[in-house]
Amino acid sequence: MKGKNRPLFRCSSCGYESGKWLGKCPSCGGWNTFEEAKSFSKLSLSKKTSEAIPLSQISLDKEKRLVTPLLEWDRVLGGGLVPGSLVLLAGDPGIGKSTLLLQVLAIFSSAKRVLYVTGEESPRQIKLRAERLVVADSEILIASETSLEAILELAETYGVDILAIDSIQTISSAFLDATAGTVAQIRYCTDRLLQVSKLKNITTVVVGHVTKEGAIAGPKALEHLVDVVLYLEGDKTHSFRLLRTVKNRYGSTNEIGVFEMQENGLREVDNPSQVLLAERPIDVPGSVVMATVEGSRPILVEVQALTTYSTLNLPRRTAIGFDTGRASLLLAVIEKRLGLSFAQEDVFINVAGGIRLREPAADMAVCLALISSYLGKPVPPNLVAWGEVGLTGEIRNVSHSSIRFREASRLGFNMVLVPNATAEALIREKERIGGNVAIIGVRSVKDVMDKIF
Ligand code: TYD
Ligand code: MG
Repeated sequence: MKGKNRPLFRCSSCGYESGKWLGKCPSCGGWNTFEEAKSFSKLSLSKKTSEAIPLSQISLDKEKRLVTPLLEWDRVLGGGLVPGSLVLLAGDPGIGKSTLLLQVLAIFSSAKRVLYVTGEESPRQIKLRAERLVVADSEILIASETSLEAILELAETYGVDILAIDSIQTISSAFLDATAGTVAQIRYCTDRLLQVSKLKNITTVVVGHVTKEGAIAGPKALEHLVDVVLYLEGDKTHSFRLLRTVKNRYGSTNEIGVFEMQENGLREVDNPSQVLLAERPIDVPGSVVMATVEGSRPILVEVQALTTYSTLNLPRRTAIGFDTGRASLLLAVIEKRLGLSFAQEDVFINVAGGIRLREPAADMAVCLALISSYLGKPVPPNLVAWGEVGLTGEIRNVSHSSIRFREASRLGFNMVLVPNATAEALIREKERIGGNVAIIGVRSVKDVMDKIF
């Protein structure tokens, strides 16, 4: 649609572009929303003559990174912020984005000129937060502003090296009629910020709230525009936070950073397994340790299950930190293959610490916890389990066994329950790294029942 000389029309409410004027927007269904617009590319602040260089002369020297003492933050970025890049920091409201941002900016403010633009909070509120974080005497420039044009002017006037916008949903450009927070505005503003950051070599961090409606006007609409997308995740009722890379033009997307929200801000956690298992009950039915992999990092978490006699016609099935549909599937497999009946049982599953287990490798631990609670028999306290469970009750191989095994061994567990195929590979691994971990391979849930209960 972006023909060179054709006029471009854009829907003022959702940003949909069309080569000709339309009465009704095919994307959002709005009437009379189309306006003639200059394409974004014609709005560049100044013309930079482009050049082409021979492939042979492109240097692979490491680009300079802005490093911090916050190793978890640098790690998810692939070794620190790249100057002139635009980073989107997304997450649920209240999860700790502004806190993390302020901590990072405070670190840079001693050597660089840092501007923190807030469209949500007053400078006073920022000061109060800074006091909690013990960075209240830093030189960060704070501006309460929601106009994109005014923000760009501020950045220019103060010769800013690092610019932070909290949040993209609150700022708007006078160039568009749409209100702040609409897809059209957040896209347009991000696009302008991207141009400016590249042109003036300003490192820009933009905060984006994940909205209730999901993708609409949220960070998802921006992911393709920006250089790096980070998600800060966690359960607000727990202190654990995971910083996840979803997109990174300068590094791997397999990294996660682990933090804990404390009274004075986010603290790095170098040993997440230990923290997550600290309150684990020993020798109690329904509690099982599982080795999960987040990004490329192994983490040991506790999976709990509780089954109790139900008086309801339709017994409860509740899972926190685990997919409810998957839980029903596993219950059906156990019923069918082991003959245990859950028809009169309420079933609750919980993953401790507010962690969400997304991988099928968690199946075996969930099954173990369910059977253990049903039978009222604890599993051995020094056991770690992982493996996918299929519909016929077979236990399937999963990836990353070696790092799961090492983590279990490092934390002093002396028994792993794994798919049979994995067991063979792990025996070789054990010969390499030593230790006294017993490796138990299982082929089916029936096998699990025989070997553990
Ligand atoms: P915040 O950074 O404002 O979240 P977001 O910007 O993602 O909306 O942090 C929100 C929560 O963090 C808030 O409920 C209070 C808590 N918090 C702490 O527990 N410790 C702290 O040091 C700070 C600053 C906040
Ligand atoms: Mg905030």
